[in-house]
Amino acid sequence: MTLYRATVIDVVGDPFVEDPGSVLRADADSALVVQDGVIVARGAYGALRADHPDEAVADLRAGVLLPGFVDTHVHFPQVRAIGALGMPLLDWLDRCALPEEARLADRGYAELVAGEFLHGLVSAGTTSALVFGSHFATAVDALFVAAARSGLRITAGQVLSDRALPPGLLTTPEQGLADGLALIDRWHGRGNVRYAVTPRFSLSTSEQMLDVCAELLGTEEVRFTSHINENGAEIDQVAAYFPARRHYLDTYHHHGLVIDRSVLAHNVHPTEPELEVMGQTGSWVAHCPTSNAALGSGLFPFRRHLQHRVGVALGSDVGAGTGFSLLKEGLQAYFTQQQLGAAEGLPLGPVHLLYLATRAGAEALGLDDRVGDLGVGRQFDAVWINPPQGSTLDVVLRHAVDAGAALAKLFALGTTADVAGVWVDDRQLYGTAVQPPPSRYSRPDKVA
Ligand code: GUN
Ligand code: ZN
Repeated sequence: MTLYRATVIDVVGDPFVEDPGSVLRADADSALVVQDGVIVARGAYGALRADHPDEAVADLRAGVLLPGFVDTHVHFPQVRAIGALGMPLLDWLDRCALPEEARLADRGYAELVAGEFLHGLVSAGTTSALVFGSHFATAVDALFVAAARSGLRITAGQVLSDRALPPGLLTTPEQGLADGLALIDRWHGRGNVRYAVTPRFSLSTSEQMLDVCAELLGTEEVRFTSHINENGAEIDQVAAYFPARRHYLDTYHHHGLVIDRSVLAHNVHPTEPELEVMGQTGSWVAHCPTSNAALGSGLFPFRRHLQHRVGVALGSDVGAGTGFSLLKEGLQAYFTQQQLGAAEGLPLGPVHLLYLATRAGAEALGLDDRVGDLGVGRQFDAVWINPPQGSTLDVVLRHAVDAGAALAKLFALGTTADVAGVWVDDRQLYGTAVQPPPSRYSRPDKVA
């Protein structure tokens, strides 16, 4: 048993539905009592210490403890492709992403990339992720081996395509089915690893391949993920491939792939009928704001998603996205809505941003009964943000007037360099050993 002593901030409800102030929970000098990976008590440190005088204490007062971040859209084979700027989606795929993805045909290469990828996630404070795998089953297997070893909560799958990509990345529906069944059998539900059926996008998948996806989705309680409505040229090509479908979403929905276990990435250019179906089915959208900005895909219509009650969470979309940090994605999501202006944009406050980076992702991935906040009964999946002393983030945090202000500053200034500790199931996966420097927050009384 361990007592984690910290300023703890989390979000316990949906700030898009309820008053943000009512769903923000912020406790200065509180304790989380953790046993066998689970938070068994939460409250004032003094009282809980009196209850548990002999247990170990991890003193995290120097920083802020948040729920581990949940990345709902990130590509394993694209770590080394991060940072290629200046191209729209289809050019970027052809010239940058797909040539790199082809290299994962080599299992040894895939193993190296898997290590880099998982390190990228955990060092950014991400503890759960819905991951686009590789086109190669061997590379996906390598990812699962590394993920299982790491302890991270990884949901991933083999990327399926049978047209419109370089030939080396294509498979057949028959082979895709056989590979998928074998991977599900070997990995789904093993530790923190789960499987997600993952057609790349309907531009690169035939009707037969989408049927295979439906068959795989029916085998177990696996998840579904793909791309949608990201870029004008992409949307036009999908319409040309599927003349019988009403819209992009229908290319998936026709095959039964749009359900409450589905996460569709981007949706920058949805039609009203598509949003209606998404709202009705309880499917989720992974909003990937740095990717949308980097590829010039457009400004995400958040308000329209909300109007149709479509759940939205955050994705880094590495490698079109510019890194693994969900703090950065949160800030970019905020910028995007500001740029859309008063009429179209949805103003996002700090509670919305923390919700998007944690609880919303847990809900999108069906993990919200286990993670997403730091309440009693949840697994201890947490990120400790502890900026270097004297850094600008450190200075502004010390002068934050309340928890909302502290959160806003974390999103405005926080980077992966400020991630000082990461735990999954109470196992510390990243960060230095926790030592007890004294609190340097001058106004902890204001965090309430
Ligand atoms: N659409 C199909 N593949 C991809 C990809 O790898 N990245 C992004 N951003 N969009 C895609
Ligand atoms: Zn993507």
